[in-house]
Amino acid sequence: MGNADKRVQSVAQSPEKVMNKLVSLAKRRGFIYPSSEIYGGLSSCFDYGPLGSEMKKNIKDLWWISMTRKHRNIVGIDASIMMNPTVWEASGHVSSFNDPMIDDKTTKRRYRADHLIENHIEKLRRDAKEEDAHRVSSYYESASEAEDQNRAFYDIIIAEEIKAPDTGSADWTEVRQFNLMFQCNMGALAESSGKVYLRPETAQGIFVNFHNVRESSRMKVPFGIAQIGKAFRNEIVKGNFIFRMVEFEQMEMQYFVKPGTQVESFESWREERFNWYIERLGITPEKLHWYKHDKLAHYADLAYDIKFEYPFGIEEIEGIHSRTDFDLKQHQEFSGKNMEYIDQTTNERYIPYVVETSAGSDRLFLALLCDSYTEDVIDGEQRVMMRFAPKIAPVKAAILPLMKKGEMGEKAAKLRDELATDFMVQYDDAGSIGKRYRRQDEIGTPFCFTVDHDSMEDHSVTVRYRDTAKQERIEISKVKEFLGAKLV
Ligand code: GAP
Repeated sequence: MGNADKRVQSVAQSPEKVMNKLVSLAKRRGFIYPSSEIYGGLSSCFDYGPLGSEMKKNIKDLWWISMTRKHRNIVGIDASIMMNPTVWEASGHVSSFNDPMIDDKTTKRRYRADHLIENHIEKLRRDAKEEDAHRVSSYYESASEAEDQNRAFYDIIIAEEIKAPDTGSADWTEVRQFNLMFQCNMGALAESSGKVYLRPETAQGIFVNFHNVRESSRMKVPFGIAQIGKAFRNEIVKGNFIFRMVEFEQMEMQYFVKPGTQVESFESWREERFNWYIERLGITPEKLHWYKHDKLAHYADLAYDIKFEYPFGIEEIEGIHSRTDFDLKQHQEFSGKNMEYIDQTTNERYIPYVVETSAGSDRLFLALLCDSYTEDVIDGEQRVMMRFAPKIAPVKAAILPLMKKGEMGEKAAKLRDELATDFMVQYDDAGSIGKRYRRQDEIGTPFCFTVDHDSMEDHSVTVRYRDTAKQERIEISKVKEFLGAKLV
């Protein structure tokens, strides 16, 4: 550790307070605002501000490049949000994309019945009541398969005397199924013939384009189709800032493989995706966890989640699913179009199996906020710093003239203009240099370039590193190259 590094001391974090601090910082500095705030907002809807939209774009660009350009056999598409409604009958979403909900009659609060039971099992485990946990877990497994799932879930909640986690009340209604898809009407008449859905996942836009993409891009199995786009779910349980929203963005890739090779492909994607978070985004490896699904979605035969340790709990960022040939087969049946693939060399015909990687860009954004938030003391002064990887940071560099007037200000403005076409940079000439550093630390700007008196003579600037506060001189003509090298 160099001398400069010794000037930085970490301040112990209280995880409970971190979320409140993050929500407030996110709004104050222009990362995330509540949606339509002047009208009182709208539950679980948020807007990304100037820095937030820049950072989200960085996340999506990084994913896009990693998934498409870095793989010769993966191409991207951008399908429409609204699709022919039969798509959702074929995919099973009309009949099965439901959550079991239960209301508390006293508090009028609504809960996911399955979550109440899962949390109860987890609590039994935490309390070392392994036998009880095992007993409830096997009831839950058979209840999930039961013909009358609602009744079976209700019976467990009553028998186990499960209470609402936030209020402790247990005045339960029956359990009911609640479909998560948003419906709207297309055309002038609000009649059932014009009923369309807002897509609850981007994946179906890929499945229905399987042959279009294969033919137009001359793809051979195995190949993948990637997509980033909005998805909508009428979630019963909302909250935790941008973790669970009704309108959110997915980054999905469907990889089409020969039946029988799906497990090998699944394992390879599992490894690649997990490493991506560590190697490309710099997320703390100890905060990432695997979770294997025992209870599978209607389309999957194998599923794992990549989870992150948020301050409010360990929760999913990305799902990796082996979706079998379910979707293509269903679309073949409902559309009457052949979804088979013909291997040109062996003449084999089959409906490909699909391995899917499905990440949420909003959840990843939140994970990066949580993972990067740092409080430390530098030169005896407390500061807040977002330790974003330079690639992700919304602002890559700040240009700070010691004096705003005259030649110094002009030189700094010129440097800003030269960098601005290639990098997101900020020019700041207001307040003391220390205050300006703090402003940039708080939004995670990895480099500050200070134009001072010496710059007029030696045509150099001082570069200051965010994490260590270390400083060194660099020629102005080399700044662009310096930044380019730091952002690979
Ligand atoms: N096509 C598969 C699929 O949609 P999913 O596990 O339901 O799988 C994939 O969703 C990812 O989408 C999740 O890992 C999560 O990151 C994100 N996601 C799902 N629901 C969300 C919500 N209500 N708010 C924010 N992100 C959500």
